[in-house]
Amino acid sequence: MKKVLVIHGPNLDLLGQREPKVYGRVTLKEINEGLRRIAKKYKITLTIKQSNHEGDIVDLIGRAKDKFAAILINPAAYTHTSVAIRDAIAASGLLTIEVHLSNIYSREEFRQKSLISPVAKGTILGFGAKSYYLGLEALLDLI
Ligand code: DQA
Repeated sequence: MKKVLVIHGPNLDLLGQREPKVYGRVTLKEINEGLRRIAKKYKITLTIKQSNHEGDIVDLIGRAKDKFAAILINPAAYTHTSVAIRDAIAASGLLTIEVHLSNIYSREEFRQKSLISPVAKGTILGFGAKSYYLGLEALLDLI
């Protein structure tokens, strides 16, 4: 059975209470349940992690190489700052899809650059929780 690593970056554990005008009321638990439903339908296995720590995310990606077929990641604020996460994805050689709940290109200027997009196969953003589901489905077509 194919395995996919799902990584949620910093503050995404607060979804549901955090800036609901931007991110809606959906919780991380609900997003994960939706992802698991898709995984079940397509008979793949998901390992889902959330971390507020850049180094932990780098380690997760570094250990993923021989264990997972692909990565689905919302790097959250690290999208805009983390050369380390970008390099970890590039080094892993794993097919990676980047997702965001919000449309980062319609928000503050500092969010309008992703260091991750150049090393991702593709990016889906602006559809709330659905960005994750579309991302997982797109990834399933490719692995
Ligand atoms: C986010 C967008 C980022 O700019 C922000 O820092 C997040 C969430 C999104 O999913 O829309 O934490 O990645």
